[in-house]
Amino acid sequence: MALPDSTLITHIGELVTNDDGEGAFAARTDAALVIAEGQVAWTGPASRAPAADAMVDAGGRAVLPGFVDSHAHLVFAGERSAEFAARMAGRPYQAGGILTTVAATRAATDDALRANLARLAAEMARQGTTTLECKSGYGLTVADEARSLALAAEVTPEVTYLGAHVVPPEFKADPDGYVDLVRGPMLAACAPHARWIDVFCETGAFGADAAAAILAAGRAAGLGARIHANQLGPGPGIRVAAEAGAASADHCTYLTGADVDALVSARVVATLLPGAEFGTRHPYPDARRLLDAGATVALATDCNPGSSYTSSMPFCIALAVRDMGMTTQEAVWSATAGGAAALRREDVGRLGVGARADLILLDAPSHVYLAYRPGVPQIAAVWQEGRLVAGSVT
Ligand code: NIG
Ligand code: FE
Repeated sequence: MALPDSTLITHIGELVTNDDGEGAFAARTDAALVIAEGQVAWTGPASRAPAADAMVDAGGRAVLPGFVDSHAHLVFAGERSAEFAARMAGRPYQAGGILTTVAATRAATDDALRANLARLAAEMARQGTTTLECKSGYGLTVADEARSLALAAEVTPEVTYLGAHVVPPEFKADPDGYVDLVRGPMLAACAPHARWIDVFCETGAFGADAAAAILAAGRAAGLGARIHANQLGPGPGIRVAAEAGAASADHCTYLTGADVDALVSARVVATLLPGAEFGTRHPYPDARRLLDAGATVALATDCNPGSSYTSSMPFCIALAVRDMGMTTQEAVWSATAGGAAALRREDVGRLGVGARADLILLDAPSHVYLAYRPGVPQIAAVWQEGRLVAGSVT
C-alpha cells in the first residue's frame, strides 16, 4: 500500500542526504526517496523503493536538500549599479552606500517593497533555495523597520531585525541616541515580527559596546543573536558574537587566530558570503582555515543591492570551491546543512526521514557539477514541503 499523497523519486544517480549522523556531507548512489505529507518518508536503494501514488524518474540525475540561504537583505527599493561599476573601476566599497538604499526604501510604498521582495524570493526558489532568511535594515525609523519586518514575514519565518545597520542621517550628530532608539522603542515595535536580531559591527557602522548592548536587548526581548562581523577589516565583532551567544557571525573575512578560536569554542557558525567579496573586490574569506580549526561553516548570498546583488547559492558554492579552499562536498554541506545550523534549524538542510521535503533535482549526475559548471542553470526542479515550486519533472 502506498502512503496517501506520496511521491516516489527514483533512479537518483546521487542522493545527498547529509544524514549519516556524523554531521557531515553524506550521499548515496542509485537511490530513491519518498515524499509524504510534506516530509521525507523513506530513502534507500532504488531497487527497494516502495510504491507511491506518483512517480518521478530522475534518470540518473542528482537530488540534494534545498539550499538554506541564511543571510539576505531583500526588503529594499532602488538600485546601485553605478556604485558597482565604480568599484570595478577601482573605487573602494563604503558602508555609507547603504544610505542611498535607505532613502529609496523609505520613499517606497508597501506594495513596491512587497513586489521586489516577491521577485527576489521567486528568483531564489528557481535557483534551489527553499529556506531563506531576510533582514530589515533599510528603513531605520521605528515605522520603516517594523514594516520591513512585517513584509519579510510574508515570505519567510526567518526574519531578522537589523535596525543597527548604519546610523541614519537624522542621528548623525547623536549616534548614541540612535543606539538607544534601536534597543528601546524600535526593538519593542520590531520584536513581534522577528525571530533574530543582527548588528553591523564594523568601522563606520557600530562599535563593540553598542553592538553588545543591542544584542543583549534583543535577547532580552526573545530574539536570537546574529552579527555582521569582520567584513571590511579586523575588529571586535567575533568576540561580541561569542559573548552574546550568537547563532552565527557573518562575513568573517578578516579573522585573527583568536577570532577563529572564539568561533570554535563558542560554537558560533561562521557564515561566509563570497558574493560580497566578489562585489567589493575584497579578498575571499579563508574557509579552509576555519574548517581545519573545527568551525562550522555556512555559505549564504548576502543578497542586497549594494555589496552582493546575487540571489544564487550555486554561484556562492562555485566561488567557495574555486577560491576559498572548500571541497565540493564541504561547499554543498555549508549551503544546506550549514545554513540550517546558522538558523538553528533541524528540519531543513538534510534529507533523512522526517526532514522537511525541501529538495532540488539537479540537471546533472552529481553535486560536483554545481562548481564544475559555474554560471550554468542546472536546477531542474525544486520542491518545498513536498510541493513542486519551481521547474518541472519531465
Ligand atoms: O552585508 N555589511 C552590511 N550590510 C550589507 C551591505 C549593504 C549595502 O551595501 O547596502 C552586507 O554586505
Ligand atoms: Fe549582510
